Amino acid sequence: MRAAIIGTGMYVPPRIVTNDDLTRIMDTSDDWIRARTGIEERRFVEPGEATSDVALPAARAALEDAGLTVDDIDYLIVATMTPDHYFPGTAPFLARKLGMTRIPALDIRQQCAGFVYGLQLADALIRSGQHRNILLVGAEVHSSLMPWESWDVLLGESDRPVPEKEYARNTETRGRTVLFGDGAGAVVLTASNDGGIVDTLLHTDGNFAEKLWTKAGGSAYRPYFSDEMIESGDVTPLVEGREVFRLAVTLMPEVLRSIVERNGLTIEDLDLLLFHQANLRINEAVQKRLGVADDKMINNIQRYGNTTAGTLPILLHEARQQGRVKHGSLLAFVALGAGLNWGAVLYQARGPKGHLAGVRPQMG
Ligand code: ACO
Repeated sequence: MRAAIIGTGMYVPPRIVTNDDLTRIMDTSDDWIRARTGIEERRFVEPGEATSDVALPAARAALEDAGLTVDDIDYLIVATMTPDHYFPGTAPFLARKLGMTRIPALDIRQQCAGFVYGLQLADALIRSGQHRNILLVGAEVHSSLMPWESWDVLLGESDRPVPEKEYARNTETRGRTVLFGDGAGAVVLTASNDGGIVDTLLHTDGNFAEKLWTKAGGSAYRPYFSDEMIESGDVTPLVEGREVFRLAVTLMPEVLRSIVERNGLTIEDLDLLLFHQANLRINEAVQKRLGVADDKMINNIQRYGNTTAGTLPILLHEARQQGRVKHGSLLAFVALGAGLNWGAVLYQARGPKGHLAGVRPQMG
């Protein structure tokens, strides 16, 4: 038995923050952000809304799409790098909100690669026969990590000047803070003897951990959190952008080629490529390296920025809504993110199309 996706759902908060809005609190421009990243706008939650709050409507939508209720789900996986609280993870909070109190519910911490890791885990749990219907959610509230104080100015609620010190700090961190948005995507996977996840190939290399990380707090310090950490900016994510860019355009094509070859396929056999949305330029470069036609690509970073673990389930949901997942479509998910964690998943939608068996009726 393999894991087949029988329902998808997504949620992004209604609050849109454009690149122009960001220019109110830092020295940046719509031109720079669009040209370097492809991002035009992102969504941010209202204060007090946590990751489990954005995960909840996405999860409910996926359940409804699958035609299942919470009572049918026997395992919950939440991929996030922005948990509601320090501990426990977000999964217990989401499970409580959904009304699930007796099933295993766990967080996984693979950042932008969270969804592909979650697919492998779900596939393994289902194929071993231990679980039958799994809810996998990728969700983030990145706005909580932003070092900004003048949210009223950013959101156009005030035209007071931003304090000089804050403006300077916002500008110093602009290379990373403009990249992210809030949002969640969810899928329901079920046991199927007729296709679904074809193969997963995942990697982790901790040698690159500090290329993309939040340095503080943590058990590496005593105390775990301190005023100095906030003052120094070590609580804000750090990104060595150029190095991550280089790693992404090298390792994403490599892992995709490997998984395709070990399944006796070629890149041309793929019908739709769903890449993590960290930077449109990364995806264009990977597409070029692989020689993939435009009509086999789908990107949505323009509207949401990087929603980390939320990205791929959101992209899959939108691909289905746009009719891009057809019967028998062979999909490839590819992601790379902090850890460094990266990987690819081959997935086939139901249908009569030749090279691999189809999957559950609801998908595609
Ligand atoms: N607005 C205006 N100017 C900016 C901004 C901004 N938001 N950010 C940086 N700049 C300036 C820099 O200060 C620098 O100015 P200087 O030449 O006067 O010193 C100049 O632009 C170039 O800066 P770089 O950081 O070298 O810009 P680069 O072209 O590498 O783009 C970026 C940065 C977008 C982060 C890119 O490297 C990238 O996308 N990297 C990979 C993605 C990534 O790391 N994402 C993090 C999430 S993890 C993941 O999902 C993989």
